[in-house]
Amino acid sequence: IHEEEQVFVDYALELVKKAGTLVRTAFDSAESKVETKASNTDLVTETDQAVEKLLIEGLSARFKGHRFIGEESVAGGAKIEWTDAPTWIIDPIDGTTNFVHRIPMIAICVGLAIKKQLRAGIVFNPITNELYMAQVGKGAFKNGFPIRASKNELMSKAVLCQSLGLHNRVQFGDRWLDIAQGNMRNQVLAGVRGHRSFGSAAINMVMVAQGSCDGYVEYGIHAWDVAAPAVIVLEAGGVVTDPTGAPFDVMSRKVLCAGTAQLGKDLSNCLTHVDFEPEA
Ligand code: IPD
Repeated sequence: IHEEEQVFVDYALELVKKAGTLVRTAFDSAESKVETKASNTDLVTETDQAVEKLLIEGLSARFKGHRFIGEESVAGGAKIEWTDAPTWIIDPIDGTTNFVHRIPMIAICVGLAIKKQLRAGIVFNPITNELYMAQVGKGAFKNGFPIRASKNELMSKAVLCQSLGLHNRVQFGDRWLDIAQGNMRNQVLAGVRGHRSFGSAAINMVMVAQGSCDGYVEYGIHAWDVAAPAVIVLEAGGVVTDPTGAPFDVMSRKVLCAGTAQLGKDLSNCLTHVDFEPEA
């Protein structure tokens, strides 16, 4: 099974590199067509769609019986089917707003789950040419070099990633802003060094995986934003949990990660927790 899994991951890597060329070309060229999905902060471009097609067509032609959970397929009406079959969880461009605004923080994310367990993750920023990948038990790498999450246990030395999560207003109304601001305020009162917000859940998470940032929390994300980078954080020695501290569920629409369990706990204690309808 392990040899087979390696074949899956190696082929996915090849496709992700091809997809990277496509994204890079579009990023450098004239404006691409932008449409909105659920709200005016929820964007999709023809590049998102083309990349998802390239990845799903490529993988499904090679691996019969594999399944797919892709951001744009789901937006197009596909149902999320979360089964024991090998399942590729794909975000063609995480950070679509960055892409549209030409901010070079974007990531092609491909995660692999087998029997509902995350096994491998690829996160590729084709603009900066940073390729992160990890497989369970094999470590986490950036452009082939091992990466490690930070060992910091203190909020007073922590730089935290986060997102305001504007789209959560769809579900919670303006109450969401109070919650998000309160969460940030509590982190400031806990003495953190600062916050960063890279505009891509996957980039926030690989920043934790490589030890640049110490923690990250976000409510309202989707499986495709976090499946691949979760494997990378874990293999880099970090922790990935539910924001409450409960075990992480990739379908729960929320995530907390940190370099150390202690910091994760202290960050969790700063938060007013909210729940979402699980996506599967
Ligand atoms: C979004 C980005 C953003 C996060 C949102 C995601 P997308 O992904 O990761 O940082 O705040 O929750 O939906 O839509 O650009 O793939």
